[in-house]
Amino acid sequence: MGVAIACGSIGRGDTPVSARRNRWHATIAGHTPIRGPARIAWTARKHWPINRSMQTSDRATRSEEPQFVAESAEMRRLLDLVTRAAGSEATVLIQGETGTGKELIARTIHRKSPRHAGPFVAVNCGAYTDSLLASELFGHKRGAYTGAVSDRAGVFEAASRGTVFLDEIGAMSPTMQIKVLRVLQERIVTRVGASEERPVDVRVVAATNADLVELVRSRDFREDLYYRVKVITCRIPPLRDRRDDIKPLVDHFLEYFSRAADKQDVRLAPATERVLLECDWPGNVRQLRGEVEQIVAMADTGAVIEPEHLSEELLSDRVAPSPEPTPKADATYQQLLDAWTREVVADRLAGCGGNITKTAQSLDISRSTLYALLKKYGMHGQDG
Ligand SMILES: Nc1ncnc2c1ncn2[C@@H]1O[C@H](COP(=O)(O)OP(=O)(O)OP(=O)(O)O)[C@@H](O)[C@H]1O
Ligand SMILES: [Mg+2]
Repeated sequence: MGVAIACGSIGRGDTPVSARRNRWHATIAGHTPIRGPARIAWTARKHWPINRSMQTSDRATRSEEPQFVAESAEMRRLLDLVTRAAGSEATVLIQGETGTGKELIARTIHRKSPRHAGPFVAVNCGAYTDSLLASELFGHKRGAYTGAVSDRAGVFEAASRGTVFLDEIGAMSPTMQIKVLRVLQERIVTRVGASEERPVDVRVVAATNADLVELVRSRDFREDLYYRVKVITCRIPPLRDRRDDIKPLVDHFLEYFSRAADKQDVRLAPATERVLLECDWPGNVRQLRGEVEQIVAMADTGAVIEPEHLSEELLSDRVAPSPEPTPKADATYQQLLDAWTREVVADRLAGCGGNITKTAQSLDISRSTLYALLKKYGMHGQDG
């Protein structure tokens, strides 16, 4: 049996449109607005005030919530770690390639922690200049710089009794690293342009897709900050290393997007399912989610999705053979012919969405000839 954990209503998810919409101006009850890519809990995405009533609203929309799908042994172990980590106050470092679910894990930690009634504030440390990031994190005093028209709390204050999610922490400059280290050590902030020190009460979760150990080695990341941040480390494996999650994720998103679009019974042909299962998913769960979203968007109720309905990007990734070295200057006629044939077949196959019948027709050769070529050059296509 797999594990599925409800972890926060992200509404219709982070499609490009809603991701852009996330750059809203949220008002936290009793605080000045926080602007820019800092994001405050999922409820705030719907412009609801962050206060105790948000918890009620959150519960009311739980049926719409995306779930954390974790069927593979690797992810089940990780979820166990996350559950244990959530109960403590320790700083957590989440590492993983892009799209593996770092933010979802951070939200899960917050949601399962004793701080769940407080806000969850996400800040993308790679999205700001130093001075803007300082203002975002620590706040500023009126007149601290041009445009600072009023006093403003930073996220460390705004997330009081909640969780601050420092995303892309590896992208922080050395200057900002020292400042954040101070907050983590002393649990106080000083707003930009002010002298008063203010206590903060937050739990910090950080994420990176960079190799922090390597950054420490190259002196691009402070070793002392690294040890402060990685008290508990969660490593999310790439999707290609936990293939048992692919099918449950596909089913989950198929169900989710079909329900959202009110389309019943959109199904995958077995050949389509095979393509999805064999794909390496370089963009991880985000790529898979996007693929299923486009399948559902283009399908009619009751449709059976064939491989040619998959995105060109996915099919060409899959059918493209590993790059063949350019033929050497002394290549024989046969070697040159092979290199050329290989390229033409790969191109045509990708252009036909991986469909073998269409590719054979387009090259005006029999399917058996095409099969022989695919076998010779280590390529795969879809019957049909
Ligand atoms: N195990 C999972 N179950 C369900 N949905 C998932 C899972 N993992 C990731 N997702 C979904 O995939 C998308 C990408 O996840 P997320 O934003 O957390 O990734 P990330 O690691 O933070 O990516 P990036 O490094 O690009 O910021 C989100 O829509 C998220 O809800
Ligand atoms: Mg992220």
